[in-house]
Amino acid sequence: MKIIRTVTELRDWSRRKRTSRKKANGNLIGLVPTMGALHAGHASLMRAARERCAHVAVSIFVNPTQFGPNEDFDRYPRSFKADCALARAESADVIFAPSVEDLYPNGPTSPNATFVEVAGLSDRLDGASRPGHFRGVATVVAKLLIAAEPDLAFFGQKDAAQVSVLRRMVTDLRLGVEIAACPIVREEDGLALSSRNAYLSAAERVQALTLNRAVRWVEAMVTAGERRADVLIEAARQIFVAEPAIRVDFIALVDWETLEPVQIAKPGTLFALAAWVGTTRLIDNTILS
Ligand code: PAJ
Repeated sequence: MKIIRTVTELRDWSRRKRTSRKKANGNLIGLVPTMGALHAGHASLMRAARERCAHVAVSIFVNPTQFGPNEDFDRYPRSFKADCALARAESADVIFAPSVEDLYPNGPTSPNATFVEVAGLSDRLDGASRPGHFRGVATVVAKLLIAAEPDLAFFGQKDAAQVSVLRRMVTDLRLGVEIAACPIVREEDGLALSSRNAYLSAAERVQALTLNRAVRWVEAMVTAGERRADVLIEAARQIFVAEPAIRVDFIALVDWETLEPVQIAKPGTLFALAAWVGTTRLIDNTILS
């Protein structure tokens, strides 16, 4: 496994692999963008990439532009050595770990720089409570896609709104890469794996299960025939009433492509929620069947 530090080298690698005709899978190149602190959720994306692509690059970059001024950029967990071990165990070919200067030649806060903004979608769900977040995500992922020139890029359904924003970006910018969404990987008790789970105290770790409890309750109601969004959202809200230590950020039932609220749930509708457990913001969701 190769560690690459600059956009130029990554592009060279990708172009070399694309023209080498030695491997199966049509020589497809897969990219798995991450911010590191890798866990089994990230590993599942690498495995999906390995299955479909001949060459797999994993990017590790804690992207400053997607964090708000009062968010956790400085204390975001960083574990490069362990991350390399995990990526190697998942047979990644390349780790791309650029410096901030390499990815943002004018600096991440420069008013004279290029940003990618997916209008509309970026203000919904997580974007509503994290202004500028999806602008930062779209910008960095555009940079990564332009650098790596992959055929496929792999993302988790865990960040469902992120997938919608990036799919719109790829369509609008004609980037010609497939955005593959992979299922949410959970702990045995249902908690969705997240690098931010490391922030939770033992008591918060227990409270955090409420998110998945609400998701499962809504799934059960839909299975039982309930389709009305207001009823489903209120039912989820009631689950949090019993947990005063958690502050709900949003609970929403939306079209997964447009992130517009729906009145009636149908197969493919996204039920998503976010909540603060102490000072940690957690998310969970399900695509209704
Ligand atoms: P990060 O939070 O490191 O997540 C990287 C990828 O792993 C995302 O696509 C995310 O949805 C996926 N992921 C995280 N937890 C998961 C889980 N429990 N199950 C399945 N997939 C999971 O998301 C980002 O980084 C950044 O916004 C990024 C796209 C890298 C841009 O900076």
